Amino acid sequence: MRMILLGPPGAGKGTQAKLISEKYSIPHISTGDIFRKNISEKTPLGIKAKEYMDKGQLVPDELTIDLVKDRLTNEDCKGGFLLDGFPRTVKQAEALEDFLRDKGKAIDTALLINVPNEFILERMTGRRVCPSCGASYHVKFNPPKVNGKCDICGSEIVQRKDDTEDTVKERLDVYEKQTQPLVDFYASRDQLFVVDGTQSIDEVFISISNHIEGDK
Ligand code: AP5
Ligand code: MG
Ligand code: ZN
Repeated sequence: MRMILLGPPGAGKGTQAKLISEKYSIPHISTGDIFRKNISEKTPLGIKAKEYMDKGQLVPDELTIDLVKDRLTNEDCKGGFLLDGFPRTVKQAEALEDFLRDKGKAIDTALLINVPNEFILERMTGRRVCPSCGASYHVKFNPPKVNGKCDICGSEIVQRKDDTEDTVKERLDVYEKQTQPLVDFYASRDQLFVVDGTQSIDEVFISISNHIEGDK
């Protein structure tokens, strides 16, 4: 299964990606997580990416596309993969399509988690993330079992630097202008599946699982 997760910031891509990746044993590839890891390790890529991410803007395609192609060449992607936060521009989507076509492959589903803007701010400001394993929590909707600690690896969970109100607004704007066109891109290829992301985390996951299992 080769799947893409689309949706605005805070839609629940990372949350669902963890569940899908565990249940169906496919690697979860989040470009946001890869950039954040590079930032925390102060690599040259991380230093460049940080400039854009802190402002809520997209990291340039030149830095992003090769990174993902490289990651998809890994052995663990042979049986499929789940992309979270990539592609985010038409250029990225075309590059991915070309890359897979060269290998005689294509994605199976572009899954759009649909959440209207009025839900987003509460989700973002209440979000806490694990800097070690990338797990995502919410103070109200998905609190960790032990206050302030990651359920999976026990690390202290933190707030993301780009989860402030102003940056979230900029990210929503960037999403509308640069990423929303991908909805039509995948719809026109008959690869789009839309799920109502205003449901609870469990309900969203049930809708996604039903789609995957009906589709296999
Ligand atoms: P990225 O890390 O991908 O951020 P994003 O797309 O803005 O999305 P988020 O991670 O903020 O939200 P999510 O949908 O994963 O939601 P989550 O599950 O955490 O990208 C960050 C930055 O990196 C970009 O701005 C850009 O600069 C750069 N970047 C990354 N990829 C790039 C690319 N391809 N090209 C260029 N630049 C790139 O959930 C949010 C909160 O809501 C959590 O607290 C969660 O617990 C809660 N929640 C989830 N589901 C529900 C639910 N159903 N009900 C109630 N609460 C819920
Ligand atoms: Mg995410
Ligand atoms: Zn963790």
